[in-house]
Amino acid sequence: MQVTLRVFRYNPETDKKPHYETYQMEADPTDRILDLLEHIKGYIDGTLSFRRSCAHGICGSDAMRINGRNYLACKVLVRDLGSAKITVEPLLGMRVVKDMIVDMEPFFVHYRSVLPYLVNGDPAPKQERLQSPEQRERFDNTTKCILCAACTTSCPSFWANEKYVGPAAIVNAHRFIFDSRDQIGAERLKILSNQFGVYRCHTIFNCTEACPREIEITKAIAEVKNAIATGKTE
Ligand code: FES
Repeated sequence: MQVTLRVFRYNPETDKKPHYETYQMEADPTDRILDLLEHIKGYIDGTLSFRRSCAHGICGSDAMRINGRNYLACKVLVRDLGSAKITVEPLLGMRVVKDMIVDMEPFFVHYRSVLPYLVNGDPAPKQERLQSPEQRERFDNTTKCILCAACTTSCPSFWANEKYVGPAAIVNAHRFIFDSRDQIGAERLKILSNQFGVYRCHTIFNCTEACPREIEITKAIAEVKNAIATGKTE
């Protein structure tokens, strides 16, 4: 089939403002959008810039806006879009470095602010720190995050105020707050109860819809809000 790819182009070093370029090409319905971008870069215009690494939905580096919705370009097929006209743009709410590449540093500042690692001051046991299957299950869903930023950059609350810590950071806080082996859940809850924390979430569900890993993000945020209100992290 013939597809028309309309691609956001912007090089702040040479362009006064962004523009779109249109590429016509032959594609298979099972081609991924990443394949089309690779074709442009390899055969039409080597200056086209986008991030990708694993090409299999694992590394999270190729999140972008495709026909107005956040996806991983390596996970969405031409036939999934139901249209031969495809528009590709960078994630919203982030500074564009070049074409589809955005500055991820503010995103990672928010991520690091919730202390996204296990803290346990007890002496290390001879073997692993034990946990029951039920205790492990409690936070299983939020372990699936690949930090692609599709959730945070689809959130109107984040667009309105970039100081909002955002869904991805809350998901990664949730992953440790409800881990029975961790000991600083209360500290994370305090961080997330500030003016740029969980209460900026207005339960819009964009994040849940955008997540390529099908994490129940809005539910996780609600669980963190509940833990702040009750002090319970089980
Ligand atoms: S390239 Fe790794 S998730 Fe798409």
